[in-house]
Amino acid sequence: MARLEDHPLPQRVMHWINLLCMLGLIISGWYIHSPFAPGWMGALRWLHFSLAYIWILNAIFRIYFAFAGSDKDWREFAYTGEDFKNIIPQIKYYLFLGPHPHTGKYNPLQKVAYSWLLIVLFIFQATTGFALLWPTGAFAGVVHFFGGLYYLRLWHYFGMFAFIIFIIGHVYLSVTEAWDQVPLMFFGIAKKD
Ligand code: HEM
Repeated sequence: MARLEDHPLPQRVMHWINLLCMLGLIISGWYIHSPFAPGWMGALRWLHFSLAYIWILNAIFRIYFAFAGSDKDWREFAYTGEDFKNIIPQIKYYLFLGPHPHTGKYNPLQKVAYSWLLIVLFIFQATTGFALLWPTGAFAGVVHFFGGLYYLRLWHYFGMFAFIIFIIGHVYLSVTEAWDQVPLMFFGIAKKD
């Protein structure tokens, strides 16, 4: 059974905010790309931009909390020598070819996903998003780099699918590998010491 300190309250709140922002950004972004019902463009564009700001602030707070306060957890994401030894066994485990290696709270592939892949995706989506919002001025170089507004839009759209794939993998692995953590993460239900 999960313990309350596995995911303290601030982390759980930020996880909820992230989840709701992601859902709202995906639905509104999908609509902006291909409006599936008439009449909502103004409202959903407004929602998309508002959620983008909340999403960014939430990410900044999450990184801050990883390094500050009594619940700081940056060490859980830091790579150790053990992680490098465990990469191949961990891949084999995911391919049903071997036992789960002995790891810390997060295995080496989770560390790569949470502390590297997510941050790169986040920066990519935020940069392409702000360049769409302000295509002249500070972000003109980004528009130029992507080959114009048409391609920039397309990359931002592809970015959404990278998040969708990430979310599907994350949900599948949470449910199959860490089912006891799910009620804790969402509702604070855990074993009390
Ligand atoms: C900082 C974060 C973000 C900002 C500033 C941002 C901004 C924007 C802007 C300005 C547009 C164009 C709106 C228009 O053409 O009227 C847009 C479209 C879109 N956004 Fe975002 N966005 C962000 C994050 C996200 C995220 C996280 C997703 C999905 C995971 C997403 C998915 C989309 C999609 C699918 C479109 C439609 C693209 C198209 O027209 O082909 N956005 N976004």
